[in-house]
Amino acid sequence: SLPVILDCDPGHDDVFALWFAAGHPTLDLRAVTTVGGNVPLEFTQHNARVALTVAGVTDVPVAAGASGPLERALQTAEWIHGANGLGGPEPPEPTVPLDPRTATELMADTLAEASEPVAIIATGPITNVAVLLRDRPELAPRIREIVWMGGSTERGNATPYAEFNALVDPEALDLVVRSGVPFTMVGLNVTHTALVTGAVRSRIAALGSRTGAFGDELLDFFCRTNDEVFGMPDGPLHDPVAVAVLADPGCVEVVRTRLDIELAGTETAGATSVDFDGMLRREPNANVAVALDVPRFWDAVLEALARLG
Ligand code: BDR
Ligand code: CA
Repeated sequence: SLPVILDCDPGHDDVFALWFAAGHPTLDLRAVTTVGGNVPLEFTQHNARVALTVAGVTDVPVAAGASGPLERALQTAEWIHGANGLGGPEPPEPTVPLDPRTATELMADTLAEASEPVAIIATGPITNVAVLLRDRPELAPRIREIVWMGGSTERGNATPYAEFNALVDPEALDLVVRSGVPFTMVGLNVTHTALVTGAVRSRIAALGSRTGAFGDELLDFFCRTNDEVFGMPDGPLHDPVAVAVLADPGCVEVVRTRLDIELAGTETAGATSVDFDGMLRREPNANVAVALDVPRFWDAVLEALARLG
């Protein structure tokens, strides 16, 4: 199975990404790193440990990384995820400890110890990965590829043209995209099709496990806030789509194209400029997700969840 590191900011959909990566048979989750994003770092590192505790995953180290973006002030998303980032269920006290290493140290150790290159899945502002590539560039060849949930080939969800993860730390995103490490963007244009329908809710509740019950309560809250904020009652479950790119590549169609990040726009900072038509005559530098096989995606998610406690 493919060794992966998951860098996240849980967050309801990040929890499902964690469970997907921990439970799917084709992935070997080696480390989890956390970043300030949906809510401040003190919550996201705690929530990652809650998610793994609920699922009975006790052998994956969890580290805390950047509390905020490289250059900007942190923007959070409590209106979607609640004050603690995991609105809805009563979270148990995590039994999974916080690793004493920083996220950069844990990622560096994981990359150095592996016998083959390791993939990084990032489902939050991509600050931690940028810090790793900035401070430990010699490790770049140890990274097989980076798959990131964020951006959009169309409009945004945090400003008219920026998706939340891109908006929070566009400088980090720009650094990662320019690093030369193979990069895949999984944006809103695709994640908005990963809808938590009533049928999906039923399948998760029917798991009969602690993970299924906790997940159902998370989705109850998440669908409610997505309905209030975006008029999307089947709240799109963004982050697991990035995991699907590696867990079951046939789920997600990608195209090789040019991706540039808007850093200076007065209204458009964090916009992801995707040059499908080659208008800029620049070299393609990224894979960009353009379509999701939705039934196959949910089958892969459910297959992983069914293997957890
Ligand atoms: C992204 O923003 C966060 O709120 C979600 O966890 C997801 O990573 C969607 O724009
Ligand atoms: Ca996230």
